[in-house]
Amino acid sequence: MLNKMTVKDVDCRGKRVFCRVDFNVPLDSEGRISDDNRIVAALPTIRHILGQGGRLILASHLGRPKGEPKAEFSLSPVANHLAQLLNQPVIMAPDCIGSEAEKLSQALEDGQVMLLENVRFHAGETSNDSQFARQLANLAEIYVNDAFGTAHRAHASTAGVAQLLTPAVAGFLIEKEIRYLGQAVTEPIRPLVAIIGGAKVSDKLPAIENLLDKVDTLLIGGGMAYTFLRAQGFSLGTSLLEENRVELAGTLLQHAADRGVSLVLPSDHVAAAEFTAESPYQICGNDNFPANHMGLDIGPKTIEEYCQIVSQAGTVLWNGPMGVFEFDAFAKGTFAIARALADSTAVSIIGGGDSVAAANKSGLAQHMTHISTGGGASLEFLEGKELPGIAALNDKA
Ligand code: 3PG
Repeated sequence: MLNKMTVKDVDCRGKRVFCRVDFNVPLDSEGRISDDNRIVAALPTIRHILGQGGRLILASHLGRPKGEPKAEFSLSPVANHLAQLLNQPVIMAPDCIGSEAEKLSQALEDGQVMLLENVRFHAGETSNDSQFARQLANLAEIYVNDAFGTAHRAHASTAGVAQLLTPAVAGFLIEKEIRYLGQAVTEPIRPLVAIIGGAKVSDKLPAIENLLDKVDTLLIGGGMAYTFLRAQGFSLGTSLLEENRVELAGTLLQHAADRGVSLVLPSDHVAAAEFTAESPYQICGNDNFPANHMGLDIGPKTIEEYCQIVSQAGTVLWNGPMGVFEFDAFAKGTFAIARALADSTAVSIIGGGDSVAAANKSGLAQHMTHISTGGGASLEFLEGKELPGIAALNDKA
């Protein structure tokens, strides 16, 4: 559980509050926000600080502009959108440091809010440069971090400023994320089932390793399943395979067996000769996989088995799609898991950009207990790593 002071422990009235949020939202080709979940998720903290009469300075990154200003990564569209959500003006600062930002921050009145321009327009953000962090800290008296999605980055606006301002506390979103993710791994309603998917086994190995000590059942799907199946001796045509991870996958299968964890792999697949949306496909098992085909989704028998396990779970942690859900023909496995989660009484927690996108695309997102706003951050949390953006905050007394 979060052992840090939160925004509830501080009095923001009349104080300038530097609040790091994760407004790294997707923009369409015309620069419009195509998914505002991360902005909406930060509203409780924003409203709390403004309601208290705090003078709010919001900071975020958007994309990876690599340390220099780039118009396509400007946070301006976010300021406009936030103003609509809050129904009050949001002052847009042309930069996150410098005389203009300082002047604007000094001029803020109680209950007013400004948004700083993208912190990654300066190289000092990602290098956690102490002078850059000092310039950010000069804007305010109180530090709040509510950027769960960026909590795994030790950057100037996450870890750096937290060392320079006291108090440095967590916002409600970080508190909520840690409550759900933390409870799922430390005191879950059992059985605890983890569903891990996605293309690459190498991205998820540390999380799988850590979860093997905690879960009752681990279901594997997506491209990574083929590396595990290879470790069991199956040949799955031209399916994704990380040859240099086969041995490790075999070791994990052994670890699972040693710990009494049921690690389940797909028994059938939707396979096609080409990686295209229109490619003709067939259902095949592990034993009769055509040499010129690749698996692009879990098959019907696997769907049935996985959904049955989900229906009996007390808690389900889901990270990573079961197939190429971006193509309709290969989305059935991923959507069936979303449906099974929506129908089950289990606590359902979804993390990772792709599975969150899949849950949204399935139209079932509102039936999940918790959808994490962190992709990399939730994965690192599941790996058992300390998140530097949270570690830097003041401990609860
Ligand atoms: C994310 O989208 O996962 C966070 O905003 C972090 O972004 P980053 O991977 O560019 O640091």
